[in-house]
Amino acid sequence: GGKNLAIGPNLTACHSSYGRPDLLVYCCPPGFQTPVPFTDFKFPDPSPVRVRRPAHLLNESFIAKYNKALSIMKSLPYDDPRSFLRQANLHCQFCTGAYEMLNRSGSELNIHRTWMFFPWHRMMIYFHERILGSLIGDDTFALPFWAWDIPDGMTIPDFYVDESSPFFHSQRDFSHFPPRVADLDYSPDDNDPRFDGKEQTETNLAFMYNRMVSGAKKTELFMGCTYKAGDKNCDSPGTIESAPHNTLHTWIGSGLNPGREDMGKFYSAAKDPVFYAHHSNIDRLWEVWRDINDRKLDIDDSDWLNSFFLFYDENLNLVKIKVKDVLDITKLGYSYEEVARPWLSHRP
Ligand code: C2O
Repeated sequence: GGKNLAIGPNLTACHSSYGRPDLLVYCCPPGFQTPVPFTDFKFPDPSPVRVRRPAHLLNESFIAKYNKALSIMKSLPYDDPRSFLRQANLHCQFCTGAYEMLNRSGSELNIHRTWMFFPWHRMMIYFHERILGSLIGDDTFALPFWAWDIPDGMTIPDFYVDESSPFFHSQRDFSHFPPRVADLDYSPDDNDPRFDGKEQTETNLAFMYNRMVSGAKKTELFMGCTYKAGDKNCDSPGTIESAPHNTLHTWIGSGLNPGREDMGKFYSAAKDPVFYAHHSNIDRLWEVWRDINDRKLDIDDSDWLNSFFLFYDENLNLVKIKVKDVLDITKLGYSYEEVARPWLSHRP
């Protein structure tokens, strides 16, 4: 065995960070200088299972539940780590390098564009989902997923554009609202729109085939580069992370803001409620890729497996959770409703 090069944050070392090259932001949690006692992660009760469903197929009663939970979350004070802004700032902290790595003073921990991308976001939305459920006393509550990889899901799900709901967010590109079909390979420099709806859908399916299959035949191509303690050189996102993940962040954010905030930059992205449905789909596609490859491409590097993060759970306990804790979603108590994989037959 070699050295332990697993990574983890030093929660008492948080700094202002760059949200854009020209914008210094501060998203450290209040009182971070004082260490908070934590417990090791324990698997939840295996039942009831939280079944994550496609956002475009939700019924009124589910939307009403989620509406209530999110409204409560948004009303909590900033001191409460369960509050919506504190949840959003978790993303700012870990995606702009606000924390140092443990025992590496002067370092910057940044989970994007590395093999921490999938597990870190899985952890973030796992706790987020459980907090939402606990705020309405519903232990079956499950985040929806925005199924932008299947034709029926390629527009922003309708309830996110209902202005009277907590799902609405003003810092978005309104020209991309339904019925506009998302461009999974969007660049703000493109002539917009590049394609009409039908052509865009076909282009998206062929693109998905590349991201999930033909372009993702090796572990590192899908998962991103190896990122270990002291590492400064890892800066290579996996196929899905670079697009559709990044491209849809950009596609949603407002073209009136310099970084297409809020979704267009990581410091602000999780302030938009659609972020969580976007990441639920990313998380699902990680499972789909593992499934397509019979789990033979799964990472078995002990530094990855032992890397850890800390999150507040629904009971306000700070929990230390390792990458190896989040590799079996059944043990995490959630599942995804099966949807078709139409892109599998769209080999260009
Ligand atoms: Cu941490 Cu969708 O980004």
